[in-house]
Amino acid sequence: MRKGILSLMAVGVLATGGLTACGDDKAADPGTGSNTKKAKIGVILPDSKSSARWETADRKYLEQAFKTAGVDYDIQNAQNDKAAFQTIAEQMITGGVNVLMIVNLDSGTGKAVLDKAKAAGVATIDYDRLTLGGSAAYYVSFDNVAVGKLQGEGLVKCLTDAKASKPIIAELNGSQTDNNATLFKQGYDGVLKAKYDSAEYVKGPDQWVAEWDNTTAGTVFEQMLTSTPNIAGVLAANDGLGNAAINILKKQKLNGKVPVTGQDATVQGLQNILNGDQCMTVYKAVKQEADAAAKLAIGLAKGEKGATSQKVTDPEGKREVDAVLLTPKSITKDNVKDVIDDGYVTVAELCTGDFAAKCAAAGIK
Ligand code: BGC
Repeated sequence: MRKGILSLMAVGVLATGGLTACGDDKAADPGTGSNTKKAKIGVILPDSKSSARWETADRKYLEQAFKTAGVDYDIQNAQNDKAAFQTIAEQMITGGVNVLMIVNLDSGTGKAVLDKAKAAGVATIDYDRLTLGGSAAYYVSFDNVAVGKLQGEGLVKCLTDAKASKPIIAELNGSQTDNNATLFKQGYDGVLKAKYDSAEYVKGPDQWVAEWDNTTAGTVFEQMLTSTPNIAGVLAANDGLGNAAINILKKQKLNGKVPVTGQDATVQGLQNILNGDQCMTVYKAVKQEADAAAKLAIGLAKGEKGATSQKVTDPEGKREVDAVLLTPKSITKDNVKDVIDDGYVTVAELCTGDFAAKCAAAGIK
């Protein structure tokens, strides 16, 4: 009876284009040792506005990995809607996924979803963002404190190159409900605090940007620049926040004079770097992240425990989580080419219009 309802639901999902069909449901359950059950992996991405990466990179690379492995998958985007996030998760669970991978919108709703999955016998993975107090079997991400450290060091290098004297630094942090934003800040504040303490730099306005919202970031930065007109460096936590600050700096003709950081090596961020308006970005090879997560997910679906060599501590749940933490890379005008060579962004995407000449000057063909 229960199986009948589940199959009907699965048909419903298939009819709406949800799951990719190639599975054979007659096989045994995972964990029985027979390992014949086809994996069905559900992935929930957070939104498509806080960073271009989720739709242009994560979805693409996860899809590639699942297709190559020949497993069923269903990748959906919650579009920054917490209620939708929960609904998608419930549909995936009733639709028969045996692994659920999430990028939480905050730890509270993330935890609710992970707990529901667990109760239904679905294995879980925290992808990119750790759910504090959560119960995921694995966490796959980058070393996020290292990301922040690269941002801090990048800003210091740009200010040193510009021979800035006692620069006032503004900090545009990510969303306070994203544990990554906390880790990024830990990384860059570690670098900047030494400069503040030695009075080489002056600490200026420092604010979180709710939900990483780019429009909010523009408003916040405009207020910062009004209250502190001589801001001389901007630590922006990702390319979208950085671009919001650059747009405000442009109004005062300060773009290119005040270095701004970023993260994600988005086309927009790389173009801002080629223009000289952005000092650096952090490239995270999302393909490596997607491949690592897909591999663990497929193992879990088959009832296997994958091998991970790292662990992170969830300070809220007070537990050690098996993790894969990849290494980020700093990108400036000098090595934008590396992002292209890695296949993350194409020449056709980056070198449009006026950027053709700038690409050529940066050695990108
Ligand atoms: C990710 C960043 C991204 C940000 C906004 C963070 O959790 O690690 O890559 O820019 O969320 O989506």
